[in-house]
Amino acid sequence: MSYQAKLRVWRGDAGSGELRDFDVEANDGEVVLDLIHRLQATQAPDLAVRWNCKAGKCGSCSAEVNGRPRLLCMTRMSVFEPDEVITVTPMRTFPVIRDLVTDVSYNYTKAREIPSFTPPPELKPGEYRMRQVDVERSQEFRKCIECFLCQNTCHVIRDHDENKAAFAGPRYLMRIAELEMHPLDVADRRNEAQTEHGLGYCNITKCCTEVCPENIHITDNALIPMKERVADRRYDPIVWLGNKLFRH
Ligand code: SF4
Ligand code: F3S
Ligand code: FES
Repeated sequence: MSYQAKLRVWRGDAGSGELRDFDVEANDGEVVLDLIHRLQATQAPDLAVRWNCKAGKCGSCSAEVNGRPRLLCMTRMSVFEPDEVITVTPMRTFPVIRDLVTDVSYNYTKAREIPSFTPPPELKPGEYRMRQVDVERSQEFRKCIECFLCQNTCHVIRDHDENKAAFAGPRYLMRIAELEMHPLDVADRRNEAQTEHGLGYCNITKCCTEVCPENIHITDNALIPMKERVADRRYDPIVWLGNKLFRH
């Protein structure tokens, strides 16, 4: 089946912009990104959109469809009614560069602020040994494609630019949790998670988990365990000492 879909797309730049309506051909099996490309090819050649793989793996095509953070390449047209207006807007949490493209450098800044994997100094490469259960725990977090939809969704920064300096966001708090739970990482990341990266701002609303296209259990498997570890360390010196002595 082929029909004319009603697309409402945000056009503009850092200074100003507006929603514009377009009728765009849609065919069976297509995704929203297909229609954005057709719109570019037929009516709006200067429309800016970031994309790369068209397979849900590069994390480039993040935007909002009818207000919900989504990957444009993984959002099937079949989930909308043929006469429904489909509104496509840039991610709201990051500054617009042009049209659907935002400046996501906040995320790279936060990534750089996290000290890297710190193995025990006495172990040489090739001597690292881990239990399979620990490998699997990290693997869930490593499915992340860095689409930043979780960052975009989290209410702590979504409408609060002023919190960005103090809050790393779910994707990077998850990275800290991954390293903290890594049996060969000897850095103690709990204090920093709270004081430098804003773990305390997270009040477990789980919106980040709901929008993750990789279905990573960000809140349950990373943020809540990290909060528990911080609480243990802060309020229970015996647990803290036990963790220190027996964690490896
Ligand atoms: Fe995207 Fe999920 Fe990674 Fe967040 S955790 S950046 S939503 S893949
Ligand atoms: Fe934000 Fe996720 Fe916490 S949406 S408040 S980081 S649970
Ligand atoms: Fe790569 Fe959508 S284009 S995730």
